[in-house]
Amino acid sequence: MTGPLLSVRGLSVNFRTPQGIVRALGNVSIQAGAGEVVGIVGESGCGKSTLAAAVGNLLPGNAEIAAGEIRFRDRDILRLGSDAQRQLRGREIAMVFQDPMTAFSPVLTIGEQLIEFQHQMTDVDKAEKRRRAEAMLARVGISDAGLRLNGYPHEMSGGMRQRTAIAAALLMSPSLLIADEPTTALDVTLEAQIIYLLRTLRRDYNGAIVVVSHHLGVIAELCDRVYVMYAGEVVESAPVDALFHQARHPYTRALLECDPARLDQPAEFLPTIAGEIPDLTVLPDGCSFAPRCALADDRCRIRPELTSLSEDHAARCHRVSP
Ligand SMILES: Nc1ncnc2c1ncn2[C@@H]1O[C@H](COP(=O)(O)OP(=O)(O)O)[C@@H](O)[C@H]1O
Ligand code: SF4
Ligand SMILES: [Mg+2]
Repeated sequence: MTGPLLSVRGLSVNFRTPQGIVRALGNVSIQAGAGEVVGIVGESGCGKSTLAAAVGNLLPGNAEIAAGEIRFRDRDILRLGSDAQRQLRGREIAMVFQDPMTAFSPVLTIGEQLIEFQHQMTDVDKAEKRRRAEAMLARVGISDAGLRLNGYPHEMSGGMRQRTAIAAALLMSPSLLIADEPTTALDVTLEAQIIYLLRTLRRDYNGAIVVVSHHLGVIAELCDRVYVMYAGEVVESAPVDALFHQARHPYTRALLECDPARLDQPAEFLPTIAGEIPDLTVLPDGCSFAPRCALADDRCRIRPELTSLSEDHAARCHRVSP
């Protein structure tokens, strides 16, 4: 294989709603290579989960892919038949979500479910699948893994359930792991533990990991490269250090200014960017950040293109040039 493991090119996704067509993604391109951890960051409603769901073949029925391709190992997965897509998702692409309960059925034991997740491994017997499940639970830091297999999801704490969901995702040794807000539902201590776990796992994991988060701290701790999304578009992409130290797009800078980790003292109310994300059913003609941007001028009535600033840094803003 020559290209990156995952390459999304020019992806546009709309949702049909009673209020009209929501343009959730517009011409989004991202890449992730083997061994690389890529972050997707932006406020709520910017299209991060839609992007993750499109790659994981999990878009809801009212979604329509209007343009673009999603290449995985150089094959456009949108052009594969539904059987091949399902197989790819079971074996090669795994997902972890914000709410770990969505990964499990409440009525089956953890063991039954972790065995069932391996149903595509037809050459491995049930006892071996159980051993694999136990070993994976131990690997994600669950003590008494053998006993846990006989328990039910509701008997676990939120943090333990998220570990178990990560174990479930890794059972098939997927080459792409997509984690959509994996720590958002957890308190700060558990969040730190899950970040630590993901950092440990990445050391001996040779696949690509895509981490979606509205939380810059999570992105900073985990990722090599970051895409910043605003109103369904990538507005900046850069290696993590460049993003945190030389952010160029006014939206990225505003996000960084609101990052709690950057405040000098604990604040009762965390700062937020003034204004709201635009209504995605009627997008403005010009730059979609213009209504909230202190630097907006006449030029910004024309939509900016994503401009390369260096080999691995790009931003979508008229004020930014190489
Ligand atoms: N199933 C859906 N039906 C209609 N609109 C949706 C659906 N899912 C998401 N959207 C809309 O798509 C936009 C992007 O949402 P989402 O991808 O969930 O953003 P994020 O994950 O960044 O918070 C939002 O305007 C949201 O309201
Ligand atoms: S193009 Fe204009 S409005 Fe948009 S981010 Fe740049 S300066 Fe602000
Ligand atoms: Mg989301």
